[in-house]
Amino acid sequence: MSMPATPPRHFLQFRDFSREEFDYLFARTRWIKDRFKRYELYQPLRDRTLAMVFEKASTRTRVSFEAGMNQLGGIAINLTRGDTQLSRGEPIEDVARVVSRMVDVVMIRTFEQAIIERFAAYSNVPVINGLTNEYHPCQVLADLYTYVEHRAAIDGKTVAWIGDSNNMCATWLQAAPIFGFRLHVSSPPGYEPAADMRAREHCVVFDDPEAACEGADLVTTDVWTSMGFEAENEERRRAFEHWQVDASMMRRAKPDALFMHCLPAHRGEEVAAEVIDGPQSVVWNEAENRLHTQKALLEYLACGRVG
Ligand code: CP
Ligand code: NVA
Repeated sequence: MSMPATPPRHFLQFRDFSREEFDYLFARTRWIKDRFKRYELYQPLRDRTLAMVFEKASTRTRVSFEAGMNQLGGIAINLTRGDTQLSRGEPIEDVARVVSRMVDVVMIRTFEQAIIERFAAYSNVPVINGLTNEYHPCQVLADLYTYVEHRAAIDGKTVAWIGDSNNMCATWLQAAPIFGFRLHVSSPPGYEPAADMRAREHCVVFDDPEAACEGADLVTTDVWTSMGFEAENEERRRAFEHWQVDASMMRRAKPDALFMHCLPAHRGEEVAAEVIDGPQSVVWNEAENRLHTQKALLEYLACGRVG
């Protein structure tokens, strides 16, 4: 079988989807979540299969995709590098051609974005980025849904990103022009986002993390050292010392500002316990919404628009 006439849609980075598609996904998420909460069976993906490839550790991504696929009536196959011939040098392009003849959707968590791009280029079925060194689009999808669920539209609001200009920050930077919010970014010297990552009218860079929180509707952060960068741990610990989201930063934000963190979190490093465990934190709903938003994403990629 050769490539299908219409190439499959992929979700490899946030800007792969339009604002109109995100609005559709949010409407589907609401519908799917409501039914799920009422224990009403909804199984549009019966007889469909998701292959998941994990080259890095995961709790939320693994559980949300596997549980979500099962709840939608399908099944999920979990693969790690060590389990597969990838570990013995099988080219990613060959793995893509084989796996995508057998399953309906593929989710990959890996290192360089180039790896997932190469897989997608040879895949007959949609590929979802479950985190790369460069991006984490499924997480920001859940985060934006969580903001909208707790407040209202995020258009015109201010989001403060405190910390490393990592895969999460890069994804927020892509989301800002699509959703029309301002992103205040504060990173230690040497860890700032590259100039070409910022849409000028939507991103403001601050040296002082407290100033970045001023007037924010949402304050968010992430680990000082992402997976794959563990060798830099000690150096980063020193550089990021003043980039901990604490109560004094939250006081600079709006009184009803939310706090989010993609998790896993390190209390006492990038966030103070009083913030992540405090009243403005919505991290548990944020984590739960990985399940609901990704079910809408799986439905969209496997079945197209419904209803
Ligand atoms: N936030 C997130 O992606 O968590 P996991 O690494 O546990 O999947
Ligand atoms: N930036 C983190 C996110 C973990 C979900 C990492 O890449 O390790």
